[in-house]
Amino acid sequence: MISSENYRAKEHYRSAGVAESYDDERFSTWYGRLAHRIESAALAQAARKYFSGSGRVLDIPCGTGRLFPVLLEAGLKVTGGDISDAMLAVAVKKFSGNPDVQFQKIDAEKMAFPDNTFDYVTSYRLMCHLPPAVRSRVLDEMVRVCRKIAVVNYHVAVPTPLYFFNRVFRPHTAITHPLKAADLKRELAARSDIEVLDMRPLSWFEQSSLLVVIKKRNG
Ligand SMILES: C[S@@+](CC[C@H](N)C(=O)[O-])C[C@H]1O[C@@H](n2cnc3c(N)ncnc32)[C@H](O)[C@@H]1O
Repeated sequence: MISSENYRAKEHYRSAGVAESYDDERFSTWYGRLAHRIESAALAQAARKYFSGSGRVLDIPCGTGRLFPVLLEAGLKVTGGDISDAMLAVAVKKFSGNPDVQFQKIDAEKMAFPDNTFDYVTSYRLMCHLPPAVRSRVLDEMVRVCRKIAVVNYHVAVPTPLYFFNRVFRPHTAITHPLKAADLKRELAARSDIEVLDMRPLSWFEQSSLLVVIKKRNG
């Protein structure tokens, strides 16, 4: 049996204080608003291009449901999954009245869903926190529960001024397990169960944050 490794993001977001201040702390400054806008726009663009305009999507980890508006706008029924009750509680507060949104406490490493449960899977700001073996297991699970397309955000080490700015002035945002883009490409290309349809930086401004569009090979 594979034993799970611990990593900071698995514990950190379980605190109610962290969860309740997440949106404000990360996304209310000019920089945070810009980052949120860029991330939302990249997801909306991927949804327009690769999703059919209906179907079920699993957003894992959903955190506070920050990206639900994009998925709802794309015409999808959303299941938000997260390992943290505290983060889910914030998301529930924001979206509980919405009949197109469901919530479930889920460990991304071993999800309690049958194969192909969702048409689509989306994942932002998780892979960068994971040790390599966990990252690979989490992608296994995302692909297993997904029927068509997964849109996954990865962070790569790019020596841009922004990368160094973040390391010095915003150390809490520092990527715990940065990858080289070439290694990520190799890691994904080695899998026979997926095809990478697109891999690109979220914007010219944020070259280290990539959006990867993955098609599941069925059968
Ligand atoms: C930086 S937040 C990102 C949340 C959201 N995707 C966003 O972009 O705002 C990281 C989230 O990963 C969740 N998390 C960490 N490990 C997890 C796991 N194994 N399964 C599910 N969620 C996990 C944390 O609880 C936290 O909500």
